[in-house]
Amino acid sequence: MFVTPFFERSVNDEIRRAAPFKVVKKSVNYMIIESKGKNLAQKLCKDKGVFVYSIFPILARRKVDKRRYVDSIYKALMDVKPKKWADIKIEILDVNSKQGFSAKDLEVKFGERMEGDGLSINILRPQTLLYSVIWDMECFVGIGDMKQLEKGFLDPFRHYARANAGIGRAELKIREAFDDFGLHGRGIALDLGAAPGGWSVFLAQNGYKVIAVDNGDLAYGKIKRLELRCRIMDGKKGDAESGLKRCDILHIRSGFDGALRSIDLKKVDLLVNDMNIRHNLSAEAMLKFSKKMRKGVPALMTVKCVRRSVDRYLAQTKKILSKDFEVVGVRVLPHNRQEATMLLLRK
Ligand SMILES: C[S@@+](CC[C@H](N)C(=O)[O-])C[C@H]1O[C@@H](n2cnc3c(N)ncnc32)[C@H](O)[C@@H]1O
Repeated sequence: MFVTPFFERSVNDEIRRAAPFKVVKKSVNYMIIESKGKNLAQKLCKDKGVFVYSIFPILARRKVDKRRYVDSIYKALMDVKPKKWADIKIEILDVNSKQGFSAKDLEVKFGERMEGDGLSINILRPQTLLYSVIWDMECFVGIGDMKQLEKGFLDPFRHYARANAGIGRAELKIREAFDDFGLHGRGIALDLGAAPGGWSVFLAQNGYKVIAVDNGDLAYGKIKRLELRCRIMDGKKGDAESGLKRCDILHIRSGFDGALRSIDLKKVDLLVNDMNIRHNLSAEAMLKFSKKMRKGVPALMTVKCVRRSVDRYLAQTKKILSKDFEVVGVRVLPHNRQEATMLLLRK
């Protein structure tokens, strides 16, 4: 399973609550664990904890032969018998060995061999994923139905790392949040702490007109190249809704306080906040906006954690927000670094 190093302690606590386990291998951003608890992976996925976001059940652990390195890994992969071999993709999750083959090298080699063996390969839309971690002279192998993996297990980090983030890494955080929390909607989105504009772009490309609030500049050139219309408005003048009529993203260039007056909050259909300020100040900022927002409107915010006592940050944030918001979900998503993402609903 993949983990964010900063949250390692919390990850361990979360898994232990599901079942006792032992760490078999530990890398910087993932670990291989062993548990006698039945269906630990299923349980973790069902419970949808906060910290564990990506779990790949392992079915076999095999020794790798140094002289027949590629052959022996291929054999280990082929030995795992799926229910049906339909449109398969091989994914080497990580190679932690000094044999000179990258994950990509191995994926290409195995893909070619599978085709040679008459197996139906489908890299873009596979039905079955055959995956492995190579660690020194051992390989850990699993297989799964793609739909089920996507629902519960599949590592969205790799999925999105390959997709094109138009503005930057932050954009991937909101994609993951929309996916993970099953969000979709339309209307007006208010994006606090919007610069350089990753979240705003994502929202504008997914059904929203966006009011982006930040003292800093958005990446106007990139936004234009993505064929989105962006306008800038001074925080003290004008009203955002009429400004929005002529563009996809309206950038109010001011701090969040300065923007309050320009926005008719009753018209806001989604509030998002990725401001890099202390968790308590960020939660208090949310309350300034929520006061006039409609009941049932969803909100997303990242909770920045300076130290590792994450539970404390989350508890304090929830307490402040509870005045106006129901906390629907909290997740540390793959692109969250020292932060968690919260899904809220205006009460
Ligand atoms: C992590 S960045 C946001 C990245 C953005 N979500 C994206 O996708 O590109 C945090 C932003 O919060 C902004 N910020 C910090 N304090 C703020 C405040 N008081 N009012 C508005 N924005 C603020 C910063 O200027 C910075 O651009």
